[in-house]
Amino acid sequence: MNKDLITMDDLTNEEISSLLDDADRLLPAARGEEYLPLLQGKLLANMFFEPSTRTRMSFETAMKRLGGDVVNLGDVKSSSAVKGETLYDTMRMVDGYCDIAALRHPRQGAAQYAGDACSISIMNGGDGAGHHPTQTLLDLFTIRQAFGRLDGLKVAMVGDLRYGRTVHSLSHALARFDCELTFISPSQLSMPEEIIEDLTANGAKITVTEDLLGAIPDADVIYMTRIQKERFPDEDEYTKVAGIYKLSADDLAGAKGEMIILHPLPRVDEIHPDVDVTRHARYFEQAFNGVVARMALMCKLLGVGIPGGDD
Ligand code: NCD
Repeated sequence: MNKDLITMDDLTNEEISSLLDDADRLLPAARGEEYLPLLQGKLLANMFFEPSTRTRMSFETAMKRLGGDVVNLGDVKSSSAVKGETLYDTMRMVDGYCDIAALRHPRQGAAQYAGDACSISIMNGGDGAGHHPTQTLLDLFTIRQAFGRLDGLKVAMVGDLRYGRTVHSLSHALARFDCELTFISPSQLSMPEEIIEDLTANGAKITVTEDLLGAIPDADVIYMTRIQKERFPDEDEYTKVAGIYKLSADDLAGAKGEMIILHPLPRVDEIHPDVDVTRHARYFEQAFNGVVARMALMCKLLGVGIPGGDD
């Protein structure tokens, strides 16, 4: 296993499957039904230079449920970043304080940079419009939980495919498991060309469309995303596409019975609350799965075996 998790390329398909198996075994500990202090004495640095609720909290929950502890950067405005400290210096210091770190940063490439600067493992919790591989682990876990497999599923990704880092990481991973991908977005927010080229070069089956309703009957998974307002260079450009896709319960009449709807959250208005009570909604379970996925990842990176696992 590589020292860091920066993009999904850091994991082989076998490593992904093994992490998902570990995550399964950790469900009782994540639910608090079992106390499993596998990471007692370990310290996680939560370095979030951008807003976060789920990613930061689930890293913290995962570490604490496994008996470890967490130090947080806290509010960026009260950190030394405002005095002009470089990311390099901050991370070099964290390298000495902690055993492992999660980093979220507005700059694409920041996680790789931090990984190169540190001897401890760096887990990319989102680097600008780049990647978000720990989110992908929990997305894959949720998909596998629903279908018992990852291979060969039809997955539609909807919304902001340009700036949304979750779909960048997820599409890479799903293509490696031979899923058929449908990218649904307005043209201004389409999946970056270099990602499409890369996926196609690796044999991925991709359909590009703007039509969400037309894609519903065929999909096994619909992955909704928020328009990434904070990444638009211009407010007017955001206004043109805000609210463009809104899924409501009525739209799901023609969906397959087993189809699941995922969303990394937070949602703005992409999914009407009336979808929450349908059999298709899985986004809150998905958010919970962030705890097990991150537990499994931290154990693996820290070289700690899980009871019942293969190491
Ligand atoms: C996502 C992110 O930060 O990229 N959130 C998350 O980690 N669950 C998605 C988003 O902010 O829209």
